[in-house]
Amino acid sequence: MKIAVVGATGLVGSLMLKVLEERGFAQEEILVAASVKSVGKKIKFSNRELIVQSVEEVIEQECDYAIFSAGGATSKKYAPLFAAKGTIVIDNSSAWRMQENIPLVVPEINASAIKPEDKIISNPNCSTIQMVLALSLLHKTYQIKRIVVSTYQSVTGTGVKAVRQLDCERANQECEKVYPHQIFENILPHGGDFLENGYTTEEEKLVKETRKIFNDQSIAVSATVARVPVKGGHSESVNVEFVKPFELKDVYKLLEETKGVVVADKPSENLYPMPLYCEGKDEVFVGRIRRDESVENGLNLWIVADNLRKGAATNAIQILEYLSRK
Ligand code: A2P
Repeated sequence: MKIAVVGATGLVGSLMLKVLEERGFAQEEILVAASVKSVGKKIKFSNRELIVQSVEEVIEQECDYAIFSAGGATSKKYAPLFAAKGTIVIDNSSAWRMQENIPLVVPEINASAIKPEDKIISNPNCSTIQMVLALSLLHKTYQIKRIVVSTYQSVTGTGVKAVRQLDCERANQECEKVYPHQIFENILPHGGDFLENGYTTEEEKLVKETRKIFNDQSIAVSATVARVPVKGGHSESVNVEFVKPFELKDVYKLLEETKGVVVADKPSENLYPMPLYCEGKDEVFVGRIRRDESVENGLNLWIVADNLRKGAATNAIQILEYLSRK
C-alpha cells in the first residue's frame, strides 16, 4: 500500500505517523507532505527517514490513501485532486464534514456509512468523537432526546502554535499569539470563530456532527466550548436526556461494553477521568456517572480523551484499517 500523510509536520500529522507505525503499517510505502517551507525536511518513521515533499508532488504518485491534517483550506484545495487520481482521502479538517454525500465516520459507530464509491471520508471533530463514542450504546438503547455539553479543550487541538503560546506565556517569554487572549492561567469561552447566532464554529460542530454520525436530526444539542491551559486532552461535562427510562447499573454496564470506552468512576477513591492520565491513550474515559435528578431520564457524565489520538489520529487510522480490510 502507498499511503500519504498531508500535514505530516503538524501535531496531528506527526501523531498519525506514530499511530501508523503502532498499528502495523510500518512496512507500507509512506509519503509525507507539508507546506512549501517544510519541503526537504527529514522525518523519522519506523527504522527509516522520510523526506517531506510538496502536496503537488505527492498527488502525482497515485497513492492508495491520503490522510490529511493540514487545515480546511488545504483539504478543500487538494483532496479533490487526490481523489481525481484514484486516491481515497481521509480528511481530519472540517472542510467536507457536513457535505451531504461525504461520510463522517467514527468506525465503532457508523463505518457502514462508507460506500464503495466514496473517495473522500471525513474524520469528525475531536470533541464530537469522544462524546458520541461514549454515548453510542446508550443512544441505541435509550434514544437520546437532548444533550447539553460544556467542553474544557486542550490547546493541542489548536495546533503547534497554540502549544507554543502556552509554553511561552508560562515561561514569561514573547511569542506569536494564536488566541486573542493569554491562555496561561486563563480560560477562553471561545473555540473557532463566532457565528451570527452568538455560538462558535466549534460549538456548531458538536451539534451538527452528532446528528450526522447518529443519523438522527431529531437529537437536540446545546454546546459551550471553552479552551483551557491543558495539553493532555479534552474534557467534557455531558448532560443527556433520553426518551426511555434507564437504571444506572445498566448505564454502567453499557458504557463498559462500549468498544473503545473505559469507565473510570470510583468517587470513594477520587477516581475520575483527567487529561493528565488520558494523554497518549486511544480510549475515551468516562466517569462521574450520575442520574440528573432535575429532569426525567436525565444522566450526567464526565468524558475525557486525548484529542490528538481518538479525537484525530487514531480515528483516522481506524478508518484506514476499515477501508484496507475491505
Ligand atoms: P508546515 O509545518 O510546513 O507549516 P498544526 O495543525 O499542528 O499547526 O499543523 C499543520 C500542518 O499542516 C503542518 O504539517 C503544516 O505544514 C501543514 N500545512 C499548513 N499549510 C499547508 C499547505 N498550504 N499545504 C500543505 N501543508 C500545509
